[in-house]
Amino acid sequence: MRAGSRFGAAFDRAVRRPWRAAAGACAVVLCAGLSLAEAPPPSVPADVLAAFARPARRPSAEDDDARQVALGQALFFDTRLSGDGSLACASCHDPQLGFADGVPLGRGIAGSRLPRHTPALWNLAWGRTFFWDGRATSLESQSTGPIESPVEMGAKLEDVVARLSDDSAMHAAFAETFPERPVVDGLNLSRALAAFERTLVSPETRFDRFVAGERDALKADEIAGFRLFTGKAGCVACHSGWRFTDEAFHDIGLPGDDRGRGAALGLAAADHAFKTPSLREIAWTAPYMHDGALATLEDVVAHYERGIVDRPTLSADLPKGLSLSEEERGQLIAFLGTLSSEDPPRPASLPPHVEAAPGSVGAVSVSTIGQAGKRFAPDHVRIRAGEGLTVVNDDTRTHNVRVDDPRLAYSSGAQEPGDKVVLSFEEPGQFLVTCGIHPEMRLTVEVAPK
Ligand code: HEC
Ligand code: HEC
Repeated sequence: MRAGSRFGAAFDRAVRRPWRAAAGACAVVLCAGLSLAEAPPPSVPADVLAAFARPARRPSAEDDDARQVALGQALFFDTRLSGDGSLACASCHDPQLGFADGVPLGRGIAGSRLPRHTPALWNLAWGRTFFWDGRATSLESQSTGPIESPVEMGAKLEDVVARLSDDSAMHAAFAETFPERPVVDGLNLSRALAAFERTLVSPETRFDRFVAGERDALKADEIAGFRLFTGKAGCVACHSGWRFTDEAFHDIGLPGDDRGRGAALGLAAADHAFKTPSLREIAWTAPYMHDGALATLEDVVAHYERGIVDRPTLSADLPKGLSLSEEERGQLIAFLGTLSSEDPPRPASLPPHVEAAPGSVGAVSVSTIGQAGKRFAPDHVRIRAGEGLTVVNDDTRTHNVRVDDPRLAYSSGAQEPGDKVVLSFEEPGQFLVTCGIHPEMRLTVEVAPK
């Protein structure tokens, strides 16, 4: 009921009043026959909607099976993973709080203050990098981080493994889950935790029903907010796709001296850049940002309008001089609300999907790659060992071309718009080239023998 009357007031502001003003201003004879009932709801182009469609399956490692998920879930709630037995993963990533903790900076072992805000854990199965600064590249490698971090769980992995091994039921659970290597160890522990985390898929909301074609699933002011989000307000430049993240790192001008991605990469051009958070279920996971400094969505929108600290590292994707009317601000926030469940969210189950390994189908033989629009084009090439592959930054953004491979470690440093770099692969095989600032940019290079 309350929602209905709020909607009534917003609708009044959004639609009726301007309409009345227009009706009053025009000659009766011209406006005759037009009525509110006939005013079409604001529409959203089909291609914009398609970019937000939920996938039917989730990406998953091949060995992500039900036993691993169940063991991972048990471990996620197990306080034996912390040094003094006081904390589980769920102590900070509380399922009741959207797997976040509801405070700006939480406390770890022995009450120590955490340097960054605890993020929610939704939809990480699609993640490219983990932590606010992306320093982990898989959920498996991420999970031992908090266990051994002196400010988080403050444990030694070997002690955790010993404690779990002493428990015969736990020992048996590990042996059953990993029959090919039936031991309690850090590797199996992290595989189980990661398998569980991959199942944390945010549930469908009214927004998804709207995208799927149910046009009255969103109210007029929420649709107007969606149009602002994908239009004038420029939010979609970074909060893109059904998860509302480009998985990239941006400096959005928050005050503070945390270097974020810049420190992780050793690249000053990425200073103050943090991973774009998903906006799914954000109504449940205040406060916001890597430092938890913004308490409400109103504060977030106010930041984008007038809080941006001017720095050379500011993201090229950030809207400049954004100014919204009070009505537009309300619409944008109403829209953000539609990405969250109305009741405490419970993970949706989506069947896992085994990603096909990239083969040579689709590989083209070219020697120059473009980067416009945060995309390597083409993104799959075949060259010969020893030949140069030129990567041109024909984009508006700074990139960081990298190969993180035991056979070849390469970083271009800050590759500014207009800069060219030439990669050379001496060994045959398949290599992955990415951008350190925009890890969704992926280029597969198949290197044939000389
Ligand atoms: C004491 C609180 C605390 C505990 C306990 C904790 N975490 Fe976290 N977690 C955090 C904080 C804070 C961050 C962000 C740190 C950063 O980005 O530097 C984080 C980040 C993460 C991320 C990255 C999410 C993303 O969006 O990139 C994952 C995944 C995660 N934790 C899983 C776990 C698991 C699994 C456990 C248990 C083994 C755990 N956490 C225990 C506080 C905690
Ligand atoms: C240049 C890329 C970019 C644009 C454009 C952008 N954002 Fe963000 N957004 C980010 C990044 C990066 C963060 C995290 C920053 C940090 O913590 O340092 C963020 C954080 C947020 C958060 C907090 C989420 C959380 O869980 O902490 C919200 C809400 C948000 N943005 C909404 C918006 C809205 C609304 C707009 C449009 C007015 C917008 N963003 C435009 C990149 C962007």
